[in-house]
Amino acid sequence: MTKLSVNINKIASLRNARGGNLPNVSLAAQRCEQFGADGITVHPRPDERHITYHDVEILKPLVRTEFNVEGYPSERFMDLVLAIKPHQVTLVPDPPGVLTSNAGWDTVGQKGLLQEVIGALKEVGIRTSIFVDTNLLHVEGALACNTDRVELYTESYAKGYANDREKAVIPFVTAGKLAGELGLGLNAGHDLNLNNLSFFVEQVPDLLEVSIGHALISDALYLGLENTIQLYKRQL
Ligand code: PXP
Repeated sequence: MTKLSVNINKIASLRNARGGNLPNVSLAAQRCEQFGADGITVHPRPDERHITYHDVEILKPLVRTEFNVEGYPSERFMDLVLAIKPHQVTLVPDPPGVLTSNAGWDTVGQKGLLQEVIGALKEVGIRTSIFVDTNLLHVEGALACNTDRVELYTESYAKGYANDREKAVIPFVTAGKLAGELGLGLNAGHDLNLNNLSFFVEQVPDLLEVSIGHALISDALYLGLENTIQLYKRQL
């Protein structure tokens, strides 16, 4: 079954709005696991506007399931992940000021950088994933970077879903199949939600993991965290 990794950045955004410790990010991570999440994802950004670097250090020993840390491989990010050694690091090419990840890697143009950071991560036993769009050259390029997995950037699927879901999913099926043929593990994420998730998982073969934040945490406001996680799990 495809694993559900819950991205808890939005819990930290809410906490940071008041400067105290409410809601408590560690407790939220533990509750997500208790309610059925297969993993916890965090994405510390340079301005620390949601998850802070310190949060990531605190979470590492608390997370009992898979801990996935996403981010751009800056010196500070690499120092953090090499020190705490999460199960998986997902490399994302986002520049410092963006609201959310808005592109996959150009794995051909950035091969040198990616090979170097992936080498360093694998040396300490961290599984690696590269965030990519469905451009087949970028999927193929990921293999040359020696990554274990790719994470398909699903925004275009989510955008196209209402209009024509069959059409929207085709590039993901093709890219996912290629990843499989190349021996790369397959993750996916961005703008997945209760509505569009099950069709994606049905159509894209051998999907190992989805990471979902914005929609899931928003749903939890109306439906409760436990119920929401169970509903997402049911879609998988
Ligand atoms: N995957 C990556 C690489 C991301 O940067 C994000 C957002 O932080 C997600 C998945 C989750 O996206 P969403 O919050 O839209 O579910």
